[in-house]
Amino acid sequence: MQLKEKHCVPCRGGVPPMSIEEAQEYLKEIAGWELLEGKKLVKEFKFAQYLEGVAFARRVGELAELEGHHPNIHIFYKKVRIEIWTHKVDGLTESDFILAAKIDDLTPQYPSLEGKGADCAVRRAGTMESPDGVWPGVYARYREYLPTIADEHIVTLLEGGTPLVRAYGLERQCGLSCALYLKCEGANPTGSFKDRGMTVAISQAKQASARAVICASTGNTAASAAAYAARAGMKAFVIVPEGQIALGKLAGSMIYGAQVIQIQGNFDQALQIVRAIAAEYPVTVVNSINPHRIEGQKTAAFEVCDALGQAPDYHALPVGNAGNITAYWRGYSEYFAAKKIAKRPVMLGFQAEGAAPLVLGHPVENPKTVATAIKIGNPASWQGAVRARDESGGLITTVSDAEILEAYKLIAQCEGIFCEPASAAAVAGVLKLARQDYFNPGSIVVCTLTGHGLKDPDTALMTTPMEPISTRAVLQEVLQAMGL
Ligand code: F0G
Repeated sequence: MQLKEKHCVPCRGGVPPMSIEEAQEYLKEIAGWELLEGKKLVKEFKFAQYLEGVAFARRVGELAELEGHHPNIHIFYKKVRIEIWTHKVDGLTESDFILAAKIDDLTPQYPSLEGKGADCAVRRAGTMESPDGVWPGVYARYREYLPTIADEHIVTLLEGGTPLVRAYGLERQCGLSCALYLKCEGANPTGSFKDRGMTVAISQAKQASARAVICASTGNTAASAAAYAARAGMKAFVIVPEGQIALGKLAGSMIYGAQVIQIQGNFDQALQIVRAIAAEYPVTVVNSINPHRIEGQKTAAFEVCDALGQAPDYHALPVGNAGNITAYWRGYSEYFAAKKIAKRPVMLGFQAEGAAPLVLGHPVENPKTVATAIKIGNPASWQGAVRARDESGGLITTVSDAEILEAYKLIAQCEGIFCEPASAAAVAGVLKLARQDYFNPGSIVVCTLTGHGLKDPDTALMTTPMEPISTRAVLQEVLQAMGL
């Protein structure tokens, strides 16, 4: 099929228009585009990894939108097929060729990421390994690594399988030379990572015929325990520091039907009381001193490795009661022992300056921080955290409340991800270390965003620089408020 002369003026990167013959030569022989029936330009792009292709397809989509074009973009495994259809009924036009050339110009931005992990959001990691393609929850997905529990006792809300999102915006904004990924644990059923441990702890409690569970909490454990207990038909008692837990966590605990007891004291005192009650009464503790909690939480490390196809170089976490850093290290260590990964990451833990017992090396009697989730002065899993730090060659250090809130805003505004302040501590810490040139360029760094920002609307409203503008319901006033 010959091109129609009047419609064909391909130009590439300022190269002058070509003749029809040159255009065909360029398209087919050089650029590799196939011309079908004079109406369609088709080219297939191959990638070393599926996710690279996805990233490329997304960029092509953005570019096409800018050009006012609507090519068909088909994503296959490690291959993307682009079909540019003519705008006109009687043949391809200049804009079609220009788009083809611009797409070609994009490809050098997608060098092979082989060995560098996934390149974009990885939603519901591991889904493809489930026979029916449905995420089955962490117990069913990672059963072989978890304590044996009979199927009929499994209590699940299909937790886990959370997104691992590449933080391009933060990388750009902060001039990072490494690949930063965010493991968005706020996407769990009750809005925090606690659900991973809770499914295992509550299932185990059910298997042991427990009727009631109890925990001390800065809020997230309480909400998670309340939800899973409700599902299991058990009574939940949650002991929280009065006036010091975020609104959404209290609301969750109450609506799931837990008996909430607020003490005029802090988390550490609440945990002491819980231990004392459990020693005397038939109620199962579901804090992370319950080993099943740690077992469940380690699955997040498995998901990170499954999504990246390898372990990251560094893994950063906020540290409060220290169960989570202990759990991740166990997860990475078990995957390493099972030869699923070739090495384990360096573990980085971050505590708030006013609540940093692990950094100081002694308990803090009166912990203080805006990040109420990690306002803890005497972590129960102290030894686990120290082991994770030392065995991985990592560190546990502090970030200030100001640094936490700065990162909290940046994550929301650069990435569109709303996490709670404690979660932002990990990103604040990574940004601080990056400024000190701590990371080798090209490293893969994963930060766990432990809980959803909607848990703590008060801090969000307090921190945002903008006030809503109030107007009457009148078009002119709204336009004025928009600055139009
Ligand atoms: N981030 C969030 C959002 C948390 O809720 C917690 C702990 C942490 C980080 C720290 O994890 O304790 O395993 O070191 N929250 C517990 C609770 C204490 O009661 O909800 P950790």
